[in-house]
Amino acid sequence: MKIFVVLVIFVAVEMVKLEKSVKEKFSDWMSNNKKCSLKPTEIEAQFTNFVTELTVVLNQEAKFLSGRSLFRMRLNNRSSDSLDEKKTWLGLKVCDSLSGEMTGARDFELELSPAPDSVDYRELGYVTEVKDQGNCGCCYAFASMCALEGQMAKKYGQLSSLSEQNIVDCSKGSYGGNWGCDGGFAEPTFQYIIDQNGVDSLDSYSYEDGEGTCRYKSKNSIANVSGYHRIKGDEEYLKQALAEVGPLVVGVKSDLYTFYGYSEGIYDDEECYGGVNHAVCLVGKDKVVV
Ligand SMILES: *[C@@H]1O[C@H](CO)[C@@H](O)[C@H](O)[C@H]1NC(C)=O
Ligand SMILES: *[C@@H]1O[C@H](CO)[C@@H](O)[C@H](O)[C@H]1NC(C)=O
Repeated sequence: MKIFVVLVIFVAVEMVKLEKSVKEKFSDWMSNNKKCSLKPTEIEAQFTNFVTELTVVLNQEAKFLSGRSLFRMRLNNRSSDSLDEKKTWLGLKVCDSLSGEMTGARDFELELSPAPDSVDYRELGYVTEVKDQGNCGCCYAFASMCALEGQMAKKYGQLSSLSEQNIVDCSKGSYGGNWGCDGGFAEPTFQYIIDQNGVDSLDSYSYEDGEGTCRYKSKNSIANVSGYHRIKGDEEYLKQALAEVGPLVVGVKSDLYTFYGYSEGIYDDEECYGGVNHAVCLVGKDKVVV
């Protein structure tokens, strides 16, 4: 009986300690991320979300350290967003029934030679800096500009950043596929550039993290598109296409806590299967023996 009581007290003390340390972590995180002006009710909701995220982060760290998983997570400045809030930052809408004439859609056969083990387009100078889409669900614009920046660098030997804002503002409604900050995908984006005969430089049309009126100016255009191709096939085909073509737009599934909190390693969440909802730019591959 005595042991039981001691045990209960011990457990209770441990829980208070844990709760205290979680609260401390939260308040440190709040001040580091400038979240000090929130109302008490907002703080409460954010604390709940933060605890959920912290639990996932700690659980993942345990998996990583024991060799059951190959990647790590850490808290970031969005750690108090709910999973639904996190999902709104994405914006890939893969759409098979587009309206209007997609004149740039091309069929082409790749020479299916075996891909090299390692490809890294960053090393070849085909990839601009990592950009931040903020709160606008226009991943499709970022991923598409990355692929086009790669093609321009490959063809002309010069790497320049293109304007995602140009795409967000001006391709809205194109072919029933792009919706500004509410999602879109690569094909309407490339088709828009074909129809417009260009896309502006990032310098001339900077990112605003929201939708605005279309301010495309042909004098500021620094890239053109002549065609695009949707790759159909398996991962082997994707590897070969990557090696042959350059950086590619791909869709990934990302509506998992582990994806939003990923910090390093090889992402191998066993829940990662099914529909894709985020467009990213594939800039390389490597062979890793684990
Ligand atoms: C969050 O952190 C990223 C990466 O450091 C930064 O680019 C972004 O501006 C930050 N966002 C907010 C809302 O603080
Ligand atoms: C893009 O194509 C148009 C039409 O052919 C041409 O006038 C323009 O100069 C091209 N822009 C660039 C950046 O190559």
